[in-house]
Amino acid sequence: MQQYLISSGQNDFIKCGSPVMNRFPFLSIKNATFVIYPRNMIPVKLSNTSQSDIVAMGTRLIKAMKDSGYEYLMLNRGVNSVVNIDLNSIIQSIDFNTSDIQVYPSGNGKAELRKAINEEYFNNQALPEHILITAGGISGLDICLQNIRVDKVWLPPLFWGTYSQLMNLRELATESYPEYDWLLKNAARLSGNAVIICDPGNPAGEKLPDEQLLELIKKLDKQGVVVIFDSPYRRLFYDRSDILYQQLMQLEMVVIIESFSKSVGLSGQRIGFMYNQNKKFIDGASLRLMYATNGINAFAQTIITKLLATPEGQKVVTDFKKITIQHIAANIEFLKQNRLLANELYKSTQPLGIFVVVNRSPEELFQHRIGSVGLDYFTLKSFKGMENLSRILVSYPHEKFVSFFRTIL
Ligand SMILES: Cc1ncc(COP(=O)(O)O)c(C=O)c1O
Repeated sequence: MQQYLISSGQNDFIKCGSPVMNRFPFLSIKNATFVIYPRNMIPVKLSNTSQSDIVAMGTRLIKAMKDSGYEYLMLNRGVNSVVNIDLNSIIQSIDFNTSDIQVYPSGNGKAELRKAINEEYFNNQALPEHILITAGGISGLDICLQNIRVDKVWLPPLFWGTYSQLMNLRELATESYPEYDWLLKNAARLSGNAVIICDPGNPAGEKLPDEQLLELIKKLDKQGVVVIFDSPYRRLFYDRSDILYQQLMQLEMVVIIESFSKSVGLSGQRIGFMYNQNKKFIDGASLRLMYATNGINAFAQTIITKLLATPEGQKVVTDFKKITIQHIAANIEFLKQNRLLANELYKSTQPLGIFVVVNRSPEELFQHRIGSVGLDYFTLKSFKGMENLSRILVSYPHEKFVSFFRTIL
């Protein structure tokens, strides 16, 4: 007979059938916090997270393509897909036979990259030691969540589902705020908490006017609320003339998390950064990052530096953004014209992209060979009619996008 061990995730293994089991009369296999392992398996400490619905849909789409031989649109993903950024000329200018590429990079990230970020995002007004290079936005968020001591983290009403998985991973209490106005009114009682702001949003792509955004963040900052400003989609639509980061950089309670995954389409390179006005906060984050990574990939940092700091790099970024934005705008216009947008989510705002929510269910879209993600992945509170809505990527070649959506009209 095979022997099993039962774990509550805290390494307290109990032999099945042993007398100690009598102390757990409530124990059932359905109880998600308990797992049964074969006796000869390594005891696993549970992370309290689960696979994302975005990845699960990706797996389903790939299988459907393989089984049917037909093309399916991967609009479940958050990957700009109009064009690739053209890196060929950039790569040719990199000397690979240097210790710069081959040896551990410095803890906070390459000095040239932090200088380039300072110029691009902060008009050279920031201190480079307040900029920490991270392994993409997710690493910045995770390190930030480890580095703050707060009662609770408040999420947008519709948010990137990974936020709540990160809260589970780091065992942080979380709740969602109903709307920005609620935050404005309740700022004082949120003192000692943290709030995540993502604008344009994921999944709906909604954008608040910058003046309102700034007013809200200033109020939260004044009331001692930590503001995690995680808006990786913003810079796809703006260039270095954007002054929002310069306005945010003086606010002590604001942590800026940024990423090059979306704004320059390089999610494969895993580069982002964190900024806070207080060096002690960044030093704490830097230690945590160091023990998680031993430094961030030097080659990827070099590519991003070239894109930000050289005329050739700036040109390929500008070209990439220009064509991507054109197709996004055309796709959103097509959805509007054909009444496919979930209008109930856009009463006081317009979607900017790279995602929108449409008024069709993931299952219906799948029947038309369009991948999407259901809204239950993006909220803590379900609402009526939610099952008929889906998030789709609109950063996709317009002609092909239209050819698939025409089939459902
Ligand atoms: C809102 C939001 N923040 C952060 C990220 C992190 O992206 P990355 O880790 O690739 O920088 C994503 C990715 O989809 C996102 O949607």
